[in-house]
Amino acid sequence: MEINQPPRIKIAFTPTPIERLEHLPSDTGEYEYEIYIKHDDYTGSTLQGNKVRKLEFFLAQSKTEGADTWITCGGLQSNHCRAVACLASMIGMKSYLMLRGSKPQVPQGNYLLDKLVGAEIEFVTATDYFRIDELMRDRADQLISRGLTPHIIPEGGSNALGLWGYFECYREIRQQLDQKGLSIDYIFTATGSGGTFGGLLVGAKFFGDKTKIIGINVCCTSDHFVERVYQYCQEFKERYCPGLVIRRSDLELIDGYVGDGYALSRKEELKMISTLARECGLILDPVYTGKAFYGMLDLLRKQMIPVGSKILFMHTGGLWGLMPIGERFVDSNLI
Ligand SMILES: Cc1ncc(COP(=O)(O)O)c(C=O)c1O
Repeated sequence: MEINQPPRIKIAFTPTPIERLEHLPSDTGEYEYEIYIKHDDYTGSTLQGNKVRKLEFFLAQSKTEGADTWITCGGLQSNHCRAVACLASMIGMKSYLMLRGSKPQVPQGNYLLDKLVGAEIEFVTATDYFRIDELMRDRADQLISRGLTPHIIPEGGSNALGLWGYFECYREIRQQLDQKGLSIDYIFTATGSGGTFGGLLVGAKFFGDKTKIIGINVCCTSDHFVERVYQYCQEFKERYCPGLVIRRSDLELIDGYVGDGYALSRKEELKMISTLARECGLILDPVYTGKAFYGMLDLLRKQMIPVGSKILFMHTGGLWGLMPIGERFVDSNLI
C-alpha cells in the first residue's frame, strides 16, 4: 500500500524496550495471560512519555514553516504541554500554554517543569476550554502582532499528523516482536485525546496485522473517542495513505474506567499503583496508565479477553503527574 511519510526530526530515545511482566501483584489473583510492557516511559526524562513521538512530526512541520513559538493546551498537569514546553526550551523556541483550571499556589509536577523552562502560561476556565481551538487561534493572532511566528499544536498532539508518532511506534513494535519471535494478540493503551490509539490502529491496519488495538478512555466516553479517532483516521487516509480502509467498527474503545473523572483517582486505582510499584517494580501514573492498567486487569479478571492471550500494555509515561498527589497515597495509608 502506498504511504507518504511527512518529515520527521528524531528526538525520542527509541526503540524503547519491550519487557515481560513476570508476575502481577499477589492480590490480583491467578492470570493465564502473558503480559508485556512497551516502555514509552523511557522515551526521555523531561520529554518522557508518548507525546514526544508525536512531537517529532510537529517539530519537522514547524521548522518547514519557520515557526518560533508553539501554542498548545491541556489540563494543569498536562504531559503534552510539559513535553512541548521542555522541547521548546531545548531547541530555542518559545511556548505558550493554555492550561485548563486556575493557578495553583505551589507549582508541582508537570506544571513545575512548565514554569522552570519558561513557558508563557494562561489559565482558561473549564467553560472557556470548550472553545479552546478558537482561543488558540486568537492567541496566535496576538503573537503574530508581537512579531512572533506561532504554530498551533492541537490538544494532546492528536490529529492526522500526530498519528504518525504511533504509526511509527507500531512499526517499531513489529520489528521488535519479529526479533523476539513473539506475536501479540492485543495491545492496550490509555486514551486521552486519541492520537496514540489512532496511530497504533492505522499501523496495524496498514500492515494487515490481526493484533487488536484496545483503547481505554480515561475521560469522556468511548462513543466520543470512536467519532474523534475515526475522523483522525479518515484525515490520515486522505493526506497520507489513500488505500487505507478503517471502519468505525474497527475502533475498540472500552468505557467504564474513567472512575471519578479525568485526573481523579479512586482509592482502588491508587492501591493498584502502589502494589504494582512495590511488588513488580512497575510505576504507573494516576491519570492515564494507572486507569488503563486497572481497566485491563478488570477485563482479564472477567475473562473478557480470551484466556492465554499475549498482551502488550503501552506504558505511555506520565510519571511527573504522580508527583503532586503524594498526599493521596498518605491519606489512603498506601505508603
Ligand atoms: C501519559 C499519557 N498516557 C496516555 C495519554 C493518552 O494519549 P492520547 O492523548 O494520544 O490519547 C496521554 C495524553 O493524553 C498521556 O499524557
